[in-house]
Amino acid sequence: MQLPLRLSPSILAADFADLGNEVRAISAAGADYIHVDVMDGHFVPNLTIGPAVVRALRPHTDRPFDVHLMISPVDPYVAAFAEAGADIITVHPEAGPHVHRTLQLVRGLGKRAGIAINPGTPVESVFPLLPDADLVLVMSVNPGFGGQGFIPGALDKIAALRARIDALCAGTERRIDLEVDGGINPQTAARVRAAGADVLVAGTAAFAGGRPRYEANLRALRGA
Ligand code: DX5
Ligand code: ZN
Repeated sequence: MQLPLRLSPSILAADFADLGNEVRAISAAGADYIHVDVMDGHFVPNLTIGPAVVRALRPHTDRPFDVHLMISPVDPYVAAFAEAGADIITVHPEAGPHVHRTLQLVRGLGKRAGIAINPGTPVESVFPLLPDADLVLVMSVNPGFGGQGFIPGALDKIAALRARIDALCAGTERRIDLEVDGGINPQTAARVRAAGADVLVAGTAAFAGGRPRYEANLRALRGA
């Protein structure tokens, strides 16, 4: 069953010189989660932030921190992000050979475990991991940068995961969020929602125009 729509604005598109106030402003504008893109210059060709920034931002919002780790290796850093205040920790199977172990590690720390797949990764490859995941993140751009165009092949993956998640969770208390990340704007938001996504990450479209625009930006993404 498709869950209520939630928006997870990516602070990658926020003003890095004023991140605390940016997180406050996007939370007040209606963000459900705060998406934190962590990049290592190795798994992806860009560098962003680490656990110290997550810790510094934690007092600025009560929204769950949706931490997207685009780093390899990932296991040595999971505990630091958990302690810094991450609520959801999402990792890529492409980043190492033992993603199942990483999901167990995240859950063992009492956090929700997410599994992210790149545009070139077959959706079926995550099916065996679903029983150990609380969230699946379909990348609709190649990870590394904000502001890229939506890759339509993500739609079929979302639909396939919707069916698979529904079959797995039917009649149980289990909940697996189906999230999509990259190139989300009001137009693509409607398409991914129709395909079955329930959490939408948006960087550029959420933070465009500065703080006076955040509420309207999020409303447009919700399609209201
Ligand atoms: C890309 C990141 C995304 C990015 C999305 O590697 O994972 O979260 O911030 O940015 P937009 O919404 O601008 O495509
Ligand atoms: Zn992301």
